[in-house]
Amino acid sequence: MKRSVINRAICEAAQFFARMNFALPEFAFWSPEQWQNGGPEADEIRDCMLGWDVTDFGVGDFQRIGRTLFTLRNGVHGEPRYPKVYAEKIIYNPEGQRAPLHFHQSKMEDIINRGGGNILITLWQAGPDNQASEEGFSISVSGLRREVAPGQTLRLEPGDSICLPPRTIHQFGGEEGTGVSMTGEVSSVCDDRSDNFFLEKLERFPKHEEDEPPLHLLCNEYPPAST
Ligand SMILES: [Fe+2]
Repeated sequence: MKRSVINRAICEAAQFFARMNFALPEFAFWSPEQWQNGGPEADEIRDCMLGWDVTDFGVGDFQRIGRTLFTLRNGVHGEPRYPKVYAEKIIYNPEGQRAPLHFHQSKMEDIINRGGGNILITLWQAGPDNQASEEGFSISVSGLRREVAPGQTLRLEPGDSICLPPRTIHQFGGEEGTGVSMTGEVSSVCDDRSDNFFLEKLERFPKHEEDEPPLHLLCNEYPPAST
């Protein structure tokens, strides 16, 4: 994935969040040089992988399959220094861009439309073979229980949210024609290195082609603390 695409995505997301009056913490705007000189006081940001996360999942078609998000808080399973049992992300969701089909073995997450355009989310349950099951199931949408057919797509308008228990296969993105949406994610601890099960072979953190210098480092790129 080209660094110029990552830089542009971060700029667009930061501008959109500002326009939506969603303020990011100061470290969202630290430069790579500031990170080089950063000490152990920023260990929580490094170790819990807080901050920018931009990926095309190795597909090379970022307009269609990709994600630009910012992790605001998180814990680490089994690590007494980071005992938070919850996580929060904010996702920049342009029209027509989706994350690939995936589920989580451990994480339960609420996907929240925090304003802007609509979100379309398509759902299945994962069967014992970790593939999409043919069974219908019930799910909570904005506190209301509803029945969902396998592969059904639901529309989340601003203010709506959906609770995805573990092993719910999901794919969501902005609905074309409705504008960019700001998506919140509130969840149990998020382990993006080992708790994402994609239905195709994909890379959660693809390699980068450095065609220009990074404006801001991604959450998996922070250097170790300087001493
Ligand atoms: Fe997810």
